[in-house]
This record gives sequence, structure tokens and C-alpha cells, in this order.
Amino acid sequence: EKAGYEHFMLKEIHEQATSVYDTFAGKLSELDGSVNLEELNISDEDIRNIDRIEIIACGTSWNAGLLGKYLFEKLAGIHTDVDIGSEFRYGNPIMRNNVLSIAITQSGETADTLAAVKSCKAYGCNSIAITNVVGSSITRVVDSVLYTRAGPEIGVAATKTFTAQLIILYLLSIRFARTRGTINTNEAKDLLIELKRIPGKIQKILNRKAEIRECAEIFAEERDYFFVGRNVNYPVALEGALKLKEISYIHAEGFAGGELKHGPLALLDEGTPVVAIATKGHVYDKILSNIKEVKAREARVIAVAEKGDTEIEKYVDYVLRIPPTHEMLAPILSSVVLQLLAYYTALAKDCSIDKPKNLAKSVTVE
Ligand code: M6R
Repeated sequence: EKAGYEHFMLKEIHEQATSVYDTFAGKLSELDGSVNLEELNISDEDIRNIDRIEIIACGTSWNAGLLGKYLFEKLAGIHTDVDIGSEFRYGNPIMRNNVLSIAITQSGETADTLAAVKSCKAYGCNSIAITNVVGSSITRVVDSVLYTRAGPEIGVAATKTFTAQLIILYLLSIRFARTRGTINTNEAKDLLIELKRIPGKIQKILNRKAEIRECAEIFAEERDYFFVGRNVNYPVALEGALKLKEISYIHAEGFAGGELKHGPLALLDEGTPVVAIATKGHVYDKILSNIKEVKAREARVIAVAEKGDTEIEKYVDYVLRIPPTHEMLAPILSSVVLQLLAYYTALAKDCSIDKPKNLAKSVTVE
């Protein structure tokens, strides 16, 4: 059932060209820049009146949620907070009935996420769940369910469900933005046209996985690994680090580029691998400065950058390429690269990739 792949994780990484397509198929029209989410039980008037979005999730789903913050704020102009399920449920959230809560959970069974979302209901908030499992517990708690159509995920490390969650967040934020009038038809069309090209671009990355494998093998025996990104690439850095630590047991941390000087630079030694997500966009120059900053401490830099970016080669040791895309959509492509980097690192170390030690696929106890 691994369809010829050595591990479920590798199979699931490869399925992403299809799972991404399946998740948006039939829900968008690039001709008029519209997104159609029939499952959404919330009126246009209520969408216009949303005062704040509260995203609740754990682990990889929380990283997806963090990207959601950038999308809802930039595209739809809605203040968005992203909380970890276990922190939200024992915290002191300020909730009003015009706060929209969005739970993101692949399994739909994560105990902390479920408990946190139930408490939102008590405040009278409208609630949405983004999940991959039909009929899972979360679907019985919320007002609307948006399904990721990734198919069953067996590997403990979330891969295709993560990119499918991102797709739903793009669709939802564009839908909200259109309803609230915060982006015009052409801006929506540009995003949707590019979104439709993402599956083909994922396939291009998969076709060149040998380069990622080579790079992974060079650094497989390192003790520490750092990931840096800014803006929409910051959640990508966090997810890249989570994937690597989860399956290869290398100590890995993700940082926002601007935070390096505030502590993490002290951790760098000669040769320490630093992955910099350096796709084109309004903070490209800023991440270049971060790269120079870590190179000055003799770290070795692996950049994730767009094909055709020749500037980057001057500053880094290795470049892992993604096809060029819209600035806001690049996280999907960069994430696939980092999943492969983690996979091939764990493979080189002969780790138990599909069932990492001490971890379970679904965390149904707190
Ligand atoms: O099923 P969920 O999305 O609620 O699961 C949340 C986390 O347990 C999960 O994402 C975990 O972090 C993954 N194993 C990461 O690959």
C-alpha cells in the first residue's frame, strides 16, 4: 500500500500535486476572481462584521494557522490571532460574538483543539473547522466544516494535510476579502490563476528531489539546524524545523529573521546549517541581510529560492530551487522542499520515519 515508495511519508509528499488540486477543485473561478465555499454556514453580512479571527490548532496545524494570520490580515483586513489549543483552553481569552473561531486539525480529534473550540461556542462565536477526516469529533462541534481533500495520511509527520490546510486558508481568505471588498477582481484573479498552477509546480520540485537529497546528506550528522524566514515564510521556517526534529531527531529551531540578533545568533558556530527561506517579495532584501549576518558568523547557509534568482548564489552555500510564483503562495512550494529535506535527512540517519519515537499520529489526550 506504499505504492512502491519506501515510506508512507515519501508517498504522501508525492501525493501533494494531486491533494492540493483536489482541495481547491470546483471551488474557484479565475475568470471572475471568485471563491465558492458552499459548506460555509455564515452570511455575507456576518463575514463583513467579523471583528477578529481566532485560529486554534496544535503542532503542524498551528504552523498552518500562523500563515493564515498573514493571509487574513493582508487580504481581508481582519485582525487574526493564532493560539495553541492547550494555551487557549487554560488562558483568559477575550471573546465576543463577532469573533470568528477557526480550528485547524488534520485528525479532527486533537483533545486540546476540541476543548478550546468548545469553549468558543460558549461565547456565541461562529466557528469553522478545517479537517481532513470526515465525521471526526471536531465536525460535530462547529458551525461549518471545510474539508481538506488530502486522503488518509499514515505517516506521523503531517505533509500533504499541511499543504491542503494552506489551500483552504488561501480560499477562505480570498473569499472573505472579496465579500469585504478588500481586494479587487484583478488581485483575486492573479492569486487564483497562480493557485491553479501550484500542482504543476509541486511536480517540478518532486522531479528534482535528488538535489535536495544530496544537500540533506551533507548535513545529516549535524547536531543543530536553524531555519529562518520572514513574513509568510516565517511559518514555513517553523514547519521546516518541526518536520526535521520530528523525524530525524536533530535539534532544529525556526526563527523570524528579524529575531536573530535578539538571541539566536549566539547559537551559531562555524559550519552550523541555517536554512533561509528567501523567495521573492517585499522582505527579500531583509532576508538577504539576515543571510549575510549568519554568514559573517561562518554558518553554512542553505537557501530556498526561486529559479532564476541569480543574486542569491553570491551569498549562500547551497540553493534549493522552487519555480517562481506569487509572493503569498510560495510557502506551499517551499514547504514541499523542506519536507523532502527532512525526509532525506532521516533516511540518511536510518530513523523510523513513519513512526518517530515517542509520537502518535493523533493526540486524543491532553
Ligand atoms: O490532527 P491535528 O492536526 O490536530 O494534529 C496536530 C499535531 O499533533 C500534528 O500536527 C503534529 O504536530 C504532527 N505530527 C506534525 O508533523
